Amino acid sequence: MHPLRRNRRLRTTETIRAIVREHIITPNDFLVPLFVVEGENSKEEIASMPGYYRYSLDLLKKEVKELWAMELKAVLLFVKVPETLKDNKGTEAINPDGLMQRAIKIIKEAVPEMLIMTDVALDPYSSYGHDGIVEEGHIINDLTCEILAQMSLSHAQAGADFVAPSDMMDGRILAIRETLERENYKNTGIMSYSAKYASAFYGPFRDALDSAPGFGDKKTYQMDYANRDEAIKETLMDIDEGADIVMVKPGLAYLDILRAIRDVVDVPIAVYQVSGEYAMLKAAAAKGWLDHDAIMMEQLIAFKRAGAQMIASYFAKDVIRVIG
Ligand code: PBG
Repeated sequence: MHPLRRNRRLRTTETIRAIVREHIITPNDFLVPLFVVEGENSKEEIASMPGYYRYSLDLLKKEVKELWAMELKAVLLFVKVPETLKDNKGTEAINPDGLMQRAIKIIKEAVPEMLIMTDVALDPYSSYGHDGIVEEGHIINDLTCEILAQMSLSHAQAGADFVAPSDMMDGRILAIRETLERENYKNTGIMSYSAKYASAFYGPFRDALDSAPGFGDKKTYQMDYANRDEAIKETLMDIDEGADIVMVKPGLAYLDILRAIRDVVDVPIAVYQVSGEYAMLKAAAAKGWLDHDAIMMEQLIAFKRAGAQMIASYFAKDVIRVIG
């Protein structure tokens, strides 16, 4: 007796495996998160994100040129705002000369074709470390949306290609889309963090930006990780409100969400492999417990297989080193 179908034939050599392979990783898969700080000639390593840095504007310029030369063509910008500029109104978030707005201009000047996406949420600007305006211990939804729309407009005016609202307020995509249309920024896109979970995996990122919530947690706006159907509801609503790209965040622990959304939407999906996912692998690899490059590639392919078209990842440069 012998089996009629021998699946192992298609695994016999690396050549045949490569030919039948369903998913690959290329530089076009990546959105590269960049952390920006005030100052000059400053490149500070983030303690809980070994090998990842905050850049002052002059060094940011160098970094984006390097990324472009590696064929990494999209960046996702975050700023670390000095404590003295934080308030409960988002004042600095809409400052036309703010750090974000200057960063966008510098990148556009240095590498005009680089796709610039900007984080839109108030947490790095908030004296409370929350994504929205706080009143009596509550995060106020509609007023926050108005400010996020102003903030998005200000990023568009500085030259951002996409704004990426990461706040999870209700109705913010519509508020942003309407403001951009009204002001004639019709081609400025929106990548919505549409299924963003309240997650402990964001810890190292909050160290990077010094943006941990000053009281409570983010569970009244970010999603409960026990829910899946809710992610579909959130995502479909964001698409109705005008999101061009939707996102699932975090990544590895949410592959089921990614696939569930892939099955019902007709827009590109991004996944965010977040800071905690990066930190876990770096730590295990530093101890010699895991093979860094092999695990990195296996995780990234898992995102593609689950249905992501693009991956926001702190590993982007490491990947180019591996795939050449
Ligand atoms: C801010 C924001 C966060 C992340 C991206 N945008 C943190 C948070 O919501 O607390 C997390 C990214 C990461 O952990 O890598 N709204």
